[in-house]
Amino acid sequence: MANIIGGIGTTHVPAIGGAIAKGLQKDPYWSPFFNAFDKVHEWLDETRPDVAVVFYNDHGLNFFLDKLPTFAVGAAQEYKHADEGWGLPVVPPYPGDPALSWHLIESLVANEFDITMCQEMLVDHAFTIPMSLLWPGTNARPVRTVPICINTVQHPLPSAERCFKLGQAVGRALNAYKSTDKVLIVGTGGLSHQLDGERAGFINKEFDQMCMDKIVHDPQVLTGLSSLEIIEKAGSQGVELLNWIAMRGALTGHVTKLHQNYHIPISNTASAVLLLENNTSAVPLRKAS
Ligand code: DHB
Ligand code: FE
Repeated sequence: MANIIGGIGTTHVPAIGGAIAKGLQKDPYWSPFFNAFDKVHEWLDETRPDVAVVFYNDHGLNFFLDKLPTFAVGAAQEYKHADEGWGLPVVPPYPGDPALSWHLIESLVANEFDITMCQEMLVDHAFTIPMSLLWPGTNARPVRTVPICINTVQHPLPSAERCFKLGQAVGRALNAYKSTDKVLIVGTGGLSHQLDGERAGFINKEFDQMCMDKIVHDPQVLTGLSSLEIIEKAGSQGVELLNWIAMRGALTGHVTKLHQNYHIPISNTASAVLLLENNTSAVPLRKAS
């Protein structure tokens, strides 16, 4: 059985990549954000995961509005980045883990998640920025990766409950995987933000803080919200919270919060990072109803 060691939720704002490229981590605007990753780095140094399963959303690099799967799972040898037009450096590819990808795909389909399987898949800033936050250095590739893409872009969006159940199914599949790998689960995006329309710049601190608390202690409260309710409360891009909810679903053990940071704003976004440890020897979560 693979060992799910923990989960990390983090913002994926593209401007973070620009700050990294310019070495602005200690700049007064950026330091309250970047400093929060010191604790995460210490924990990753101690725990040294072998694989990261990353729930994220594509913003039009690999999938566009013409063909957009609700859930897509990477099954590639490696995942290439490409220019998305944000003016960010294109980073070298990330190694995949095809054996684990196919195990997850087989298990998900057997459990009635009719995902799209991708033997080629470009990864955008929602994948690359979190990876460079967790493992700084353009060429740092200390883990194999399995990207799992959730549609948060083209309506209708999957429900929070469905995303939580997707995470739970991934967690069960990892527990059944014959391997001694240490697995980190990552959920990217959010928290509240809206990039366009009448509410451009919208941020909802109270809702974000409630979400960060419930993700740790009672994630099923969030699964009671419809995706449209999340958009109303967190902004049209704040619905990237769905990736965090899937991440939390995959933590099948007893979860302990080790660290969190919430900082407004980074670009147009209420930025956040949350580090959760997963203790697999303890009580399983309540089953989703
Ligand atoms: C921003 C946030 C995002 O989640 C994204 O995908 C693009 C831009 C921003 O705040 O600038
Ligand atoms: Fe985004």
